[in-house]
Amino acid sequence: MTAALTICRDEEGVAAHVAALIEARLTQDPRLILGLATGRTPRPVYRHLAEAWRAGRIRFRDAVSFNIDEYAGLAASDPASFHAYMEEALFAHVDLPAGSRHIPDGAAPDLAAEAERYERAITAAGGIGLQLLGLGVNGHIGFNEPGSPHDSRTRLVRLATSTRQANARDFPPGHDVPTHALTMGIATLLGAREIVLAVAGAHKAQALKAALEGPVTEGVPASALQGHERLHVVCDEAAARLLS
Ligand code: F6R
Repeated sequence: MTAALTICRDEEGVAAHVAALIEARLTQDPRLILGLATGRTPRPVYRHLAEAWRAGRIRFRDAVSFNIDEYAGLAASDPASFHAYMEEALFAHVDLPAGSRHIPDGAAPDLAAEAERYERAITAAGGIGLQLLGLGVNGHIGFNEPGSPHDSRTRLVRLATSTRQANARDFPPGHDVPTHALTMGIATLLGAREIVLAVAGAHKAQALKAALEGPVTEGVPASALQGHERLHVVCDEAAARLLS
């Protein structure tokens, strides 16, 4: 593995480091194709990127984005959807053209066909240049739960119970967490030319150790990253505490 590991003091340090890396790549290549994640970890990263845009240091008008995943059954207008998250966290604050933002359509009538369409759209765009990833407590990347084949592509998946419990915080009371999602596959994610895995918090320490130092196994989806040529792991001290 040729991973570069950066250990920051805390979650904010992780966000600043990851945002600086994205800013540098976007400066080198304004037409960068970004793979984007949702969840708690990227939120402050997007805040930094929006600040960099306001300060005039970066522009998104020639860039393209592909989000990793979306809940099955949620329309873009649903406040709990990843469409809504991205709008609020990043898209409303920068000049990335609406036509250049891609997120799987969780409300598509034929989700299998939507997954195939999405995978083809990534290929047609030339593939992901820089992929931002978070890490699930169970070792998932995207919504590739333990047991996902390492050669998997964008598809409909069933969410693990632990994932649904972890993400219940994003849903209002009475709104069930969806049971399924569309996600880029592990092979789709590994196809990115460069990957940044951002991890913060003591609750991720076990998963991070298994991902980086354990065997490459379908039981730990993130362990597939060990085979990637250009992987940056940016974590905080709490998440790094079990690394040898
Ligand atoms: C989000 C995604 C997930 C999250 C992971 C960590 O698009 O695909 O894999 O990255 O669940 O989420 P947080 O950052 O909320 O701990």
